[in-house]
Amino acid sequence: MSGPSTPGYAFRTLATSGAARAGVLTTPHGDVPTPTFMPVGTQGSVKTMSPDEVAATGARIVLGNTYHLWLRPGPEVVAELGGLHGFTKWPHAMLTDSGGFQAFSLAERRQTSEDGFVFRSHLDGAKKVLTPEVAMQVQGKIGADIAMQLDICPPGDASRADFEAACARTTRWARRCLAAKRPDQAVFGIVQGGTDPALRRAHAEELAAMPFDGLALGGFSVGEPIARMHEVLLEVAHTLDPERPRYLMGVGTPYDLVRAIGAGVDMFDCVLPTRNARNGQALTRTGKVVIKQARYRTDPSPLDPTCTCPTCAAGYSRAYLRHLFIASELLVLRLITVHNLHLYGTLVREAREAILAGRYDVFAKEWLAGLEAGAA
Ligand code: GUN
Ligand code: ZN
Repeated sequence: MSGPSTPGYAFRTLATSGAARAGVLTTPHGDVPTPTFMPVGTQGSVKTMSPDEVAATGARIVLGNTYHLWLRPGPEVVAELGGLHGFTKWPHAMLTDSGGFQAFSLAERRQTSEDGFVFRSHLDGAKKVLTPEVAMQVQGKIGADIAMQLDICPPGDASRADFEAACARTTRWARRCLAAKRPDQAVFGIVQGGTDPALRRAHAEELAAMPFDGLALGGFSVGEPIARMHEVLLEVAHTLDPERPRYLMGVGTPYDLVRAIGAGVDMFDCVLPTRNARNGQALTRTGKVVIKQARYRTDPSPLDPTCTCPTCAAGYSRAYLRHLFIASELLVLRLITVHNLHLYGTLVREAREAILAGRYDVFAKEWLAGLEAGAA
């Protein structure tokens, strides 16, 4: 093992309960209690929310996307305005994804080689070359606390040979990223390997031998059955170096978080709470409220009577929120986003309290029963 090396960063586990861990991730922009959920601020904002509203949901770290900020407004603009912190006025910790995953889903005419990705911007068709060195230079200029290595994420139905090749190339890119990183910026390695636990563990060991500040599990929720993802997480997450934070990328639902925390994961990001909010879907501890449904036309109750978020506490009825949504009023997008992020903030805070009290199993049982009850 070759542990974290970047000055100003540390990770400390305070308690465990089964494989679940409660800890603290220290960054130059403050401490992040873990388990933690990172709201997604792709283009430098968590859609519809101001930084103080995001922080009020309990979040102490947000995610930005290198791909988007590189193409627009460009890393030079962000750097000139004080980096992503100065530009966005988010005062707490930030992490940027490295760009390859987004280039894969958004860009046109992509080509992959040992050197990196070549693609056309989805905005103006400009040719862009994303190598491990470029990914680190751009993330260095954007200046989040934590950068991610450039990696290869095959689709869920890729062949065994593709998964092995993706791991091998991701390891070679890991070395190049570490050689090119800013000395004062943390960087996490990304474990691939599909749904093969042995391949995942072998890849995790290769990356743990390098001085990464954290280890991420990539390549999940990419089309494989969710039950299989959880089986693999149960086998793999707890084997990742205990000295470093473990980050499950792009996952997931409240159910997924409860299960993955139980498997030993510390950090999450997902567009689900913010994107679903803008589609009129509120998440609660007892399932979903699809606000456009006619059943809410005269419903005077808040989204969740047990919720303490500003939307529910203010007493906005489901009937009013439904009306706003059907009338395409922008306020409803904010009100449901606040509520959904508050649920995720509450989930990770309660999970942490349960781990500190040595009763994560009780917490998980109660949350899973609640979510299941409302699954209909
Ligand atoms: N976001 C969700 N999954 C992944 C992944 O496998 N790699 C990267 N870089 N980002 C992700
Ligand atoms: Zn609420």
